[in-house]
Amino acid sequence: MLVVNRDVSLRPLNTMDVDGTLRYLVEWETAEDLGRLFTDSTYADVVDGGVKFIGQGSNLLFVSRDYRGALAKCASRAIRLVGENDKYADLEVSAGVALDDVVAYCCRHCLWGLENLSLIPGTAGGAAVQNVGAYGVEFKDVVVKVNCYDRETHRIVSFDVGDIGYAYRDSLFKHSPAKERYIVVSTILRLSRSPQPRLNYGKLDALVADKNDIVSVREAVIAVRRSKLPEVGKTGSAGSFFKNPILTDQQMELMLAQASRSGIDVTGMPVFDVAGGRKLSAAWLIDRAGWKGVESGHARVWPTQPLVLVNADGFATGREIADLAARIMDDISMKFNVRLETEVEYL
Ligand code: EPU
Repeated sequence: MLVVNRDVSLRPLNTMDVDGTLRYLVEWETAEDLGRLFTDSTYADVVDGGVKFIGQGSNLLFVSRDYRGALAKCASRAIRLVGENDKYADLEVSAGVALDDVVAYCCRHCLWGLENLSLIPGTAGGAAVQNVGAYGVEFKDVVVKVNCYDRETHRIVSFDVGDIGYAYRDSLFKHSPAKERYIVVSTILRLSRSPQPRLNYGKLDALVADKNDIVSVREAVIAVRRSKLPEVGKTGSAGSFFKNPILTDQQMELMLAQASRSGIDVTGMPVFDVAGGRKLSAAWLIDRAGWKGVESGHARVWPTQPLVLVNADGFATGREIADLAARIMDDISMKFNVRLETEVEYL
């Protein structure tokens, strides 16, 4: 199926619930569809203005009211068992499947590995690009291969997990030239048939009724997310708006000195040792800087998780949200000498 819709609204294409107009929305299902899109002259107008591939738009901010160019979404919802033995099962999941549908499928079949990623908005394709993570698990932990359409050769390329450069919210597919060249079509995931509970994050352990019951783990994760994060479909948001910053030892010293000059008590500041330095909690920095619950026009900092910016009443423009984000970033720079980076991509 390859369908091109003209002059559509942006609102259903982003979880931030920002409105605007879009010239072309392409819906596709298979690599063959992409082959037609990129090689058949019927679609030249659509392709010439640039095609941006999106999932559920759960990590996007439309800063301009008119998006020039085309957006493309994968409409396939296919999940297939492609290999198994008594220890594991391999699933091939199309890019367009909602990540939470994959998690729910795995929980129904007692396949362990993704349950900590319950209720995360977005698609499997998006998760493979940005290495979604929550509660001590990252998407890459279950990935075996990612199958992509290659825009240069018009063939399928299959990447092994070790060749994708996965890191915290990062992969090869987020950077040029791979970003422009490869389109994720499907992902092969390896799930465990025996219980592998990972409950070390925060208070998750205490909330799980039966640690060897995958549904108990899923329910606990859902309860934690619901208690802290805005309800998807009710309040527009893009999940975490900023990434947690990773600092070198020297940057850490500068941060502490600046916090002290700003009169901020850093007792209890969460710091985690990670590859490449020490990871700070952006939520903690934003909280200490006094931004929790702050409103600016129709944009708001979420009161129980200040890493999340929301479209408070559905009338916020992308620009308004971007302006609030910029004010927060400037304030964190001033108070902590740390430049936050957005996790959300601006379009
Ligand atoms: N905190 C505060 N004040 C608050 C809330 C949190 O100081 O009001 C501090 C606390 O110290 C808390 C720490 O922030 O311990 C971390 O908070 P949380 O456990 O919510 O995790 P996070 O680092 O803020 C990350 C992911 C989330 C994911 C959670 C849970 C990023 C950018 N975000 O948030 O992912 O759900 O961990 O694992 O890494 C997303 O990417 O959209 C997302 C929601």
